[in-house]
Order: sequence, then C-alpha cells, then structure tokens
Amino acid sequence: MHSLKKLNRITAVFGLIAVLLAGGCGVSYEEDLPDPGQVGSEELITVGFSQVGAESDWRKANTESMQSAFTRERGYELIFEDAQQKQSNQITAIRTFIQREVDYIVLAPVTEDGWDTVLAEARDANIPVIIVDRQVAVKDKDLFTCWIGSDFELEAKKACTWLEDYCRMKRISANDIYIADIQGTIGSSAQIGRSKGLKEAVRKNGWHLVDEVPGEYTQAKGREATARLLQSHKDLNVIYCENDNEAFGALEAIEAAGRKAGGNLRAGEIMVISFDGVSELAIDDLRNDSISCIGECNPLHGPRVRKVIDDLENNIVPEKYEYVDEDIFSAFEDLTEITVEGKNYPVKIIGK
Ligand code: AHR
Repeated sequence: MHSLKKLNRITAVFGLIAVLLAGGCGVSYEEDLPDPGQVGSEELITVGFSQVGAESDWRKANTESMQSAFTRERGYELIFEDAQQKQSNQITAIRTFIQREVDYIVLAPVTEDGWDTVLAEARDANIPVIIVDRQVAVKDKDLFTCWIGSDFELEAKKACTWLEDYCRMKRISANDIYIADIQGTIGSSAQIGRSKGLKEAVRKNGWHLVDEVPGEYTQAKGREATARLLQSHKDLNVIYCENDNEAFGALEAIEAAGRKAGGNLRAGEIMVISFDGVSELAIDDLRNDSISCIGECNPLHGPRVRKVIDDLENNIVPEKYEYVDEDIFSAFEDLTEITVEGKNYPVKIIGK
C-alpha cells in the first residue's frame, strides 16, 4: 500500500509534466515544476492546499507557515489555491486536486457547512483530507482524517472574562457596558465560536449587546461597521472585533468620529477588544491601549500539518482533533490572570 502510494505519487507528478508539455502551458506553471530527475529521486509528496483567501494578517501568516513547511527541500510539492473567500472556489480546488491525484488534501474551510459531497469525492479517490483552522460540519466524521486549529469559543470566553475582571477592578457596573460585535465571516467556526462566547458572557454579566454586524475579518468592513455603529448607538463603549484587521478599521473610524479608543470608559473612551495578535501593528496598538485586550489566535499550522502527514506516511494515526494552546494579551498590568471554567490562564502583559 505504502510503496504503491509512492509509485502513484511519482506517476502523478510525471503525468502532470506530460499534460503541461502537451498543452504548452504558461511560464508560471513550468517554473513550478521540479525537473524530472529531481522528482524521481526525491519522490515528492504532493499536497493540495485550499486556503480561504488573504483577508487578514492572520491568514497571510498562516499561508506563509504552510508554504515554508511544505518545500521541495523537505520532500513536498505544495499546490496552493487561494479561494478568495468563496466556498465554490474551494470546492473547485478540491476537485482539481483529486484529478491531479495529490497524496493529501489540506482544507482551510471558509465556512462550516456544505462539504459533505466534495469530501466524499476525496474519500472515494482514497485521498486523506486534513482540515486546518476552521472546522467542517459534516454528517460523517470519517470524511476527513483530522483537524488542527483553535478553540474559538475559548478565545472568546477568555476575552470576555478579561473584560468582566477589568470592569470589576475599575468598579464599572455591568449595566454601563454597551457592547457591539463586529463579526467575522458568517458561518465560519471562528465567527460562530467568538460570537457565541460573547453572547454567553453578555447574558451572564448583564451587559447590553447593542448590535451584531458582519465585518468579514477585513479592515475596510471593520471601519464601515464602526462608523455606522457610532452613529446609531450613542451609548456604545465597547467594540468587540472578531479579528485584529477589523479592529484596525474600528480604530480608524473611532478617530474619524473624533472619539478616543482606550480603556478609560469613564472619560468617554471606547474600548476595543479583538483576536489574533499576529502583527506588530496589533501589538503596538495594545501597548498604547488603543486595543485593550487581544485573544491570541495562532496561525502557525504548517509544521503541525506536516507532522500529521509524516505520521500518516509512517502509518501512525493522528489525533482526530488537535486544539492549539493560545494566550491572551493586554497592557493592563493589574490583571495578570483570568479563570475560565475553573482553569487559570495567565494574561501576557505587553510592556510599554
Ligand atoms: O479562522 C481564523 C480567523 O480567520 C482569524 O482570526 C482571522 O484573522 C482570519 O481571517
């Protein structure tokens, strides 16, 4: 089985070369091809990766992590497809991977629903599918080999617990918290988990959730949404952005409205909370309290996915679900630990 797979692998790559030579394809494809001698000796493992898009700094870091994990030097041929945030593009990419007889398919799904048919096609072709980052909601869990990613609801619970503790320390009444949620791509696991965590905290604490609006994880949408929210909700004092890029947009809109972002709610500042903590810009915003708290979302899945593939190559069955460990960041020095469901988590204080 193992050697047959390797034989198929070489045949698939040589088949691709033959198709490209026959079809006289463009320069970029030809540049991507290893030379035949190299393929024969290295027996590259082909990995088709369908990425969501390039909507955020997190996503770019995630793409880089995958690309540097799956290099020819390490024995892989990575076929990368950017879906530009469209599930239909991802389905097309998976079908193309199947036609090209890749050894593994890695899918970072844009939303949870709608994968049963195409993943069944991959299974019929005997191609293992590894899901990364967000999850898929499929009836038959055997349609994918395993999943690696974040516990988005836990990220939200940590951020909301931080807000709850911050308010207690600053003696701000729960009744004085007017919060709006700028959501991520609707139907994505990151949005579902982060929105759910906030809603539960709102119910538990008695905060006012004044609005939930889509932000699609982009700076432009974060800016537009915040401008509208500031117009229509005069009491608004906390903006919960479901990623840092939305937060960057929110900060622009807050400034444009002549308001100040920060944790001094009594002085009329607007607190911004967000997720990711990937870019230097976000960390700088934390340092100067423009963003008050960030729930970390770790994008560095490349080596984790590679480890899974290496294990599968050695007939080691990976864990079905692998949640990555994540921190919570803030510059507020008095709050150094939070407790969520009985478990303590340190708050990483970002120094001035
Ligand atoms: O699914 C992870 C989320 O997607 C990140 O928080 C966000 O920045 C990205 O676009």
